[in-house]
Amino acid sequence: KIIVLDFGSQYTQLIARRIRELHVYCEILPFNRPVSLNSEVKGIVLSGSPFSVKDPNAPTVDTRQWRGKVPLLGICYGAQWMAHQEGGEVAPSQIREYGRATLQIDLPEHPLFAGMSKASQVWMSHADSILQLPPHFKILAHTENIPVAAYEIEGEPTYGIQFHPEVTHSLEGKQLLHNFVVNICGCSQSWTPASFIEQTVASLKEQLGNDKVVMALSGGVDSSVAAMLLHRAIGSNLYCIFVDNGLLRKNEFEQVLETYRGLGLNIKGVDAKQQFYDALRGISDPEAKRKAIGRTFIEIFDEEAHKIQDVKWLGQGTIYPDVIESVSVNGPSVTIKSHHNVGGLPERMKLKVIEPLRSLFKDEVREVGYALGLPKAIIGRHPFPGPGLGIRILGEVTPEKVRILQEADDIYIEALRRSGWYDKIWQAGAILLPIHSVGVMGDERTYEQVVALRAVHSTDGMTADWVHLPYELLADISNTIINRVKGVNRVVYDISSKPPATIEWE
Ligand code: XMP
Repeated sequence: KIIVLDFGSQYTQLIARRIRELHVYCEILPFNRPVSLNSEVKGIVLSGSPFSVKDPNAPTVDTRQWRGKVPLLGICYGAQWMAHQEGGEVAPSQIREYGRATLQIDLPEHPLFAGMSKASQVWMSHADSILQLPPHFKILAHTENIPVAAYEIEGEPTYGIQFHPEVTHSLEGKQLLHNFVVNICGCSQSWTPASFIEQTVASLKEQLGNDKVVMALSGGVDSSVAAMLLHRAIGSNLYCIFVDNGLLRKNEFEQVLETYRGLGLNIKGVDAKQQFYDALRGISDPEAKRKAIGRTFIEIFDEEAHKIQDVKWLGQGTIYPDVIESVSVNGPSVTIKSHHNVGGLPERMKLKVIEPLRSLFKDEVREVGYALGLPKAIIGRHPFPGPGLGIRILGEVTPEKVRILQEADDIYIEALRRSGWYDKIWQAGAILLPIHSVGVMGDERTYEQVVALRAVHSTDGMTADWVHLPYELLADISNTIINRVKGVNRVVYDISSKPPATIEWE
């Protein structure tokens, strides 16, 4: 495997994903975590950082402990740091380089540049530059603006590059990463969905033996894929529970339950609609609603799990981005919304947690899902928040409002599917606003609710852009909703991006 040491760059996860795309396993570790070299570690990549190497708070690590023993690749700050540590000069350059640049490769036959053009488009994003290299460092490439765009330390497989090969604007960046991890580090490209499934199922079998595992399914990709892996390993010793919280999409409970049964999962559907509606009565604050929904879910799940004898484990669909320890550069971040729906569940139930997807990125989870035979109806599904329509009905939730929103949302989502937009969108849904507006239907004045439509492009939910849906499609959806959904006389489209807005309205 490859270790990616994180110095706080916004691109660190991207580096790891690119390496994984080469079918090479890699892990991200915070820069200050000790890395002990063993036969598994084939190379180390040092990420970029928002810091400058001379900053008193700059993240530092002594790379001499690894140099010469395994190949090292410093990217941006990583490259600057190694040069600085050896006495080179790193300082703000006259020209800040940000954007595309042409890399002029001075040593085209060097293994780091195998298969690359002599002049290669790369992506730069730096204020500091390496102005002078220590004596035993050798320049491998430059650009018009900077003399040192790539270097090696003579006599050892240690390299530094100023540009970002992980960004797609570096057109041959993937080739460079391939050259480093495969040719220089000697990693075999054997990390595939099939090999992941084989290894994971084998280790789950060994770890779990005859133990029973209970797991909550939601219809979402992560929990479904995790359940299928556990199912392969332990069959009917996996007990799945799917709770109808009354806040799902129209017909979702029945459809998803049927799909899971078709896959052979040992699953129990629990109708708990009324308990959730009771818990939500009179509450309109978003965080209070989240808490009420989370608490009710835990109670119901706990009760159901206790009906199964001798359960030892709780299965969860946690994925890699949830467990990577992030290097905080701006101090502790504030809670915008509490997304963790069922934190506290394992402690309360005194169960050990098993998380088969802990090492996977989202796109890898999908690939593994396909390889396990899960249908597109589950894998291609848009993300849907745990509290469901509970946070898309602004203000107090009532069964009647749920009905209205389910109808409107269903018309919207079906129209997206029919027009081919559904698969191009990261997440879409309808929101029921807590205001009434005046309308006219036939000769009658109406005074009814407003539905907002939301559709966003995103890669991880952290940032998002609103989708430019065609006017004709929006017109059609708006007409259908107003004509068919009793209680709605106005439809609006949300044209806000995240940040500064968020994807959900609550
Ligand atoms: P925001 O609204 O913060 O949403 O831009 C980002 C992503 O997170 C989802 N989301 C949630 N998921 N429980 C969840 O499981 C929550 O309470 C929650 N709130 C937001 C949202 O749907 C989007 O995908």
